[in-house]
Amino acid sequence: MLIAHSISDLRALLAPYRSPAFVATMGNLHDGHLALLRSARGLGDVSVASIFVNRLQFLPHEDFDSYPRTWEQDCARLEEGGCDILFAPREADLYPEAQTFKVLPDPALADILEGHFRPGFFTGVCTVVLKLFNCVQPRFALFGQKDYQQQMVVRRMVRQLALPVEIVTGQTERAEDGLALSSRNGYLDAAARAEAVQLPLALRALGDAVRGGRRDLDALEAEAARSLAARGWQPDYLTVRRRADLLPPQPGHADDWHSLVVLGAARLGATRLIDNLEI
Ligand code: PAF
Repeated sequence: MLIAHSISDLRALLAPYRSPAFVATMGNLHDGHLALLRSARGLGDVSVASIFVNRLQFLPHEDFDSYPRTWEQDCARLEEGGCDILFAPREADLYPEAQTFKVLPDPALADILEGHFRPGFFTGVCTVVLKLFNCVQPRFALFGQKDYQQQMVVRRMVRQLALPVEIVTGQTERAEDGLALSSRNGYLDAAARAEAVQLPLALRALGDAVRGGRRDLDALEAEAARSLAARGWQPDYLTVRRRADLLPPQPGHADDWHSLVVLGAARLGATRLIDNLEI
């Protein structure tokens, strides 16, 4: 695996290739990232991963400083996973001056759910993803379905800005008990790790109720949040949305109820977990 820290070194390494397939990460890699890398290897003529903890997508009280940085382990995992090129810019390489030009994503999609609880998050994500795309110039870019809203926002950015890249979504990788793999799972102690599976279980129960014909979403969602809260969680949202635009399905619109996704975000102690389930 070749490693580039600067944009010019990356461009030199990529010069011989026509169709890079790209996986953007913030490091602390797990099997979900490696599954995306595997798909990338089957798509492009060179696989590229990036590791960059993007300050722009963290709120001041969030975990930017403590976000796990596991460089040696990540390099070993990428190497094993067959990554051809790793782009690992320092902050001064990617943001040599204050990043005052930013991408403002459609608020209808980006200011709800995650964007509501983490204002500015998707501006930070889109800005760095666009910049990484400009550096790598990928033909394919792979994003995990675990960050459901993120991959939708990125897809819409690509479509509206006519970026010459195809977005591919990789399915969520889960631990044996069903917990979605996430870099933030590493923050959980043994007791919290055992409890964490209650989030996907709550999403499944909510999905089952809707599949069983329940349409009283406000009551169902409130009950799901109350059940998690009773176990010591602080839920931000557990909600059923249309896959197409992440808006709530309307009770009188039969078509709204065919293609749904249940999304949830909740804090367990200091750790905020998110997950989703298409139903
Ligand atoms: O999903 C992530 O790890 C990040 O949001 C991303 C896409 C690498 C942008 O910093």
